[in-house]
Amino acid sequence: MPPTPAMPHVLNTYGRLPFALSHGRGCRVWDTEGREYLDALGGIAVNTLGHAHPALVAAIADQAGKLIHCSNYYQVPLQEALAAKLCELSGLAAAFFCNSGLEANEAALKIARKFGHDRGIDLPEVIVYERAFHGRSIATLSATGNPKVQAGFGPLVEGFVRVPLNDIAAVRDVARTRPNVVAVFLETIQGEGGIQPARHAYLRELRALCDEKDWLLMLDEVQCGIGRTGKWFAHQWAGIVPDVMPLAKGLGSGVPVGAVVVGPRAQEVLQPGNHGSTFGGNPLAMRAGVETLRIMEEQGLLANAGKVGAALKDGLQRELGELPGVREIRGTGLMLGIELDRPCGVLLGRAAEAGLLISVTADSVIRLVPPLILTEAEAAEVVARLAPLVRAFLAEPA
Ligand SMILES: Cc1ncc(COP(=O)(O)O)c(C=O)c1O
Repeated sequence: MPPTPAMPHVLNTYGRLPFALSHGRGCRVWDTEGREYLDALGGIAVNTLGHAHPALVAAIADQAGKLIHCSNYYQVPLQEALAAKLCELSGLAAAFFCNSGLEANEAALKIARKFGHDRGIDLPEVIVYERAFHGRSIATLSATGNPKVQAGFGPLVEGFVRVPLNDIAAVRDVARTRPNVVAVFLETIQGEGGIQPARHAYLRELRALCDEKDWLLMLDEVQCGIGRTGKWFAHQWAGIVPDVMPLAKGLGSGVPVGAVVVGPRAQEVLQPGNHGSTFGGNPLAMRAGVETLRIMEEQGLLANAGKVGAALKDGLQRELGELPGVREIRGTGLMLGIELDRPCGVLLGRAAEAGLLISVTADSVIRLVPPLILTEAEAAEVVARLAPLVRAFLAEPA
């Protein structure tokens, strides 16, 4: 007899491990049976401050006692506070708030299309990337470069031209042949695609090409932004500034907050009536965002992500780097991937059994995106728990 599903009334859209988490503290979580786990997943790059950070909990409780939601019919001063902070940190000019990564990307795509229409381009096109992941709405899955995400959901949205990552000649070819291009849209570091960074030189070339062609450079920092790589935004390593930057995941440290932050070239594109969100920018979410960024600064979490990320990568390299089945260990700060030469989804459950939460993406890449408060001792513990599992896995017959 097949086992009774644990959640029979929940749509079956995820392959879930057979336990439920009940609470956490810092980088540790406990399940309902009392088992403890070290969290190297952070709710998939979301729990910036770890679990139950006292200052964040207090701010959320305080805000919940005052005003959770009020609609965008009114001024929301906390929206201005979070937008101003994001602009200060990014060098951009203004923000729109929503609730998730795909919504931030939808807003970016609407901005790109309207930017084109405002210039007399009736059928605007956006350059997107192989192996990209931008979300699971119809438009964002159409922009996504993964046939598995798209399968069964056609017809896809039109107006995308796909190129390989880090190949500037491919973009120049598109520039020569397609007059309706209005924007280039990519993840600064592909997350779901297997921790694949856009090279710094490539980003600088894209920036120059976008300036030359009057295109928008739109960098999806939903996963790699908000301090994860050791700078506020991953593109800052390349010394460039995008025109449009979708954010989400780490921005509210677990409270759903999405944002699209734009520079001067895109600031006037959306006008009253062009876009909106009932929940987007509500006071509770904004307070979580403001408080997350404040605590990150107070605790020096960018520097911590850089330092602890480097220690974690060194440890992984030392323990696993020379194994024949390990193709590459890559990433920056606390966004790391260990690419194996074979699918390794089974490691998710085995790691959990060993008291470690991780993810596997692009079939064969172990992804580590822990809270940015991870300590060096915890990083060493991640290595100590993970390395034997990977070694044993690679020793099994393929
Ligand atoms: C780069 C990137 N963009 C967009 C998304 C979609 O975000 P959400 O799941 O919040 O819609 C993700 C989610 O993994 C992502 O990694």
